[in-house]
Amino acid sequence: MRVHKGILLAGGSGSRLAPTTAVISKQLMPIYDKPMVYYPLCTLMEAGIRDILVITTPRDQQAFATLLQDGSQWGLALSYAVQERPEGIAQALLIGRHFLGGCPVALILGDNLFYGDAMAMSLGAAAQRAHGATVFGYQVADPQRYGVLAFDERGRITDIVEKPPLPPSNYAVTGLYFYDHQAPLLAQELRPSSRGELEITDLNLAYLRSGQLFLERLERGIAWLDAGTHNALLDAALFIRVVEERQGLKIACPEETAYRQGFIDKSQLAEQAHALRHSSYGRYLASLLE
Ligand code: DAU
Repeated sequence: MRVHKGILLAGGSGSRLAPTTAVISKQLMPIYDKPMVYYPLCTLMEAGIRDILVITTPRDQQAFATLLQDGSQWGLALSYAVQERPEGIAQALLIGRHFLGGCPVALILGDNLFYGDAMAMSLGAAAQRAHGATVFGYQVADPQRYGVLAFDERGRITDIVEKPPLPPSNYAVTGLYFYDHQAPLLAQELRPSSRGELEITDLNLAYLRSGQLFLERLERGIAWLDAGTHNALLDAALFIRVVEERQGLKIACPEETAYRQGFIDKSQLAEQAHALRHSSYGRYLASLLE
């Protein structure tokens, strides 16, 4: 089985977080104690993915590269590409097609946060599927904000509707997608939607129509947050603070994830703890060595 590569899409979009995003991409802003981009990056790492393309705006590519470097400090191989304009999430697969070179891919949005032990099982199931596409469904109270799944009476997906005023279910499609080698080819067939974007929902519908779309339902023990609005950003920060302070454990700490996944060894972790020793983050890393 071919190993999945990762694409982390951290470009811009007609930002709902203006004016803050006039000077910095939101994915570089903190969610409590670390940059937003760490959270989706760690989700890819938890899926065992080490070869990752980070797609950014032209303006902020350097800032992302300064923050994340070449990834070797976390046992990763990070490369970078730009999306000139926010012309749709599915465009990431066209930008990344040479990077993918026919490999399957996990695509994650830079503002999506997943938390919970049960994630590992869903990620594992998606990563093991050799063919087709996998989307992750999550029950939400406000499906109108998302791509929404429609089901038949046997629970099979019949449709996906982008931001429907009358949602066919409460199941949102989260911003994490696993695709086989066909994705760049199928993305090339897409035409821009009425909002001028290559819609990821249209790509998922192409898989659905050929009977190759699979669903992983994220159960209630899992938290899925997106940080796309001012309230969601604040809620996410508070959520992370509450859980981290209560447990004394960090969520989405790439150094820790790399260590636990066996991507780096103890001496590499110690090196990073030392470099950050004057911060509480560095002291946390040092505590992992004890
Ligand atoms: O968060 C999950 C939802 O993400 C899905 O349920 C929807 O089906 C999907 O269309 C998407 O909806 P959003 O309206 O939240 O997408 P938005 O335009 O806000 O972009 C999501 C993230 O992707 C955001 O961090 C910016 C980034 N992005 C988006 C576009 C359109 C890019 O980097 N480039 C783009 O061209």
